[in-house]
Amino acid sequence: MKTQTEPLIQRVNQVLDGYLPPPEQSPQQLHQAMRYAVFNGGKRIRPLFAYGAASALNNSFATVDDAAAAVELIHAYSLIHDDLPAMDDDDLRRGKPSVHKQFDEALAILAGDALQALAFRVLVAGQWDNPGDAVAELADACGSVGMAGGQAVDLGAVGKTLGVDELSAMHSLKTGALIRCSLILPGLVSPASNAYVQPLAAYGSAVGLAFQIHDDVLDIEGSTEALGKPSGSDEDSNKPTYPACLGLEKSKQLADELVEKALSELEKLPGDVSLLNFLAQFSVKRNS
Ligand code: IPE
Ligand code: IPE
Ligand code: MG
Ligand code: MG
Ligand code: MG
Repeated sequence: MKTQTEPLIQRVNQVLDGYLPPPEQSPQQLHQAMRYAVFNGGKRIRPLFAYGAASALNNSFATVDDAAAAVELIHAYSLIHDDLPAMDDDDLRRGKPSVHKQFDEALAILAGDALQALAFRVLVAGQWDNPGDAVAELADACGSVGMAGGQAVDLGAVGKTLGVDELSAMHSLKTGALIRCSLILPGLVSPASNAYVQPLAAYGSAVGLAFQIHDDVLDIEGSTEALGKPSGSDEDSNKPTYPACLGLEKSKQLADELVEKALSELEKLPGDVSLLNFLAQFSVKRNS
């Protein structure tokens, strides 16, 4: 599968490179911080979901280049802010100092702001059936009814015990919404593709939740070296997580069940679903 994913990772990196202002462009430090946050590794799984959806719809990869770059820009911004002292206070990201450590807090906040704005700039450059639909989809996925909302619930729940329904709602917002969006956007490129938004969204919701459950598991079972971010951070910060609520084994079982549910949606799609099939399983097998 690496032979399939590696060229797509390079592909989205090129798209991102084309949109991010050069490091020598003023204000230089801000542009350097934005590039540092985007080009410091990362699995690029959200772009891969978008490319996988294009394949599953029999569309070319070119139809989703801008969507793939846009969701990765939102993700990069979310990680910068997630690591800030006011949030998770983590100094390591993708094996390197977090943006606020490498630069400073003010620049980290601004780099996140600017990456979010750039994401919408990139998104509207794409070819859409109705560009407004794509903008609304991404705005919902990253706003108070999506990622930012989930982050607010996460921070508000520190030190509290959440029930499994509350955890599921929180994880579906903070991580699930953007992953789901990575799958829906490819369905918005044409009326023909539009017909498949429902199964793509259902796959995205299930995998998105499974992805964050596995992230919680890795926080316990993974090493800082393999993860490239501090292992044990959730427990240190008293975060509400699936393992804290259900235990490790039940959490893993639930993630596996969600992947099965996601895979069952793939039967409804007309094209090549091999990449989406792989990505669903990878979401809960990965060690970083
Ligand atoms: C980490 O996301 C944050 C979550 C939403 C769980 P990834 O595991 O996709 O991080 P990178 O992009 O590969 O570093
Ligand atoms: C982050 O969840 C979700 C985001 C929206 C960034 P985590 O706080 O668990 O992500 P990591 O473990 O720091 O990557
Ligand atoms: Mg967090
Ligand atoms: Mg974090
Ligand atoms: Mg985590």
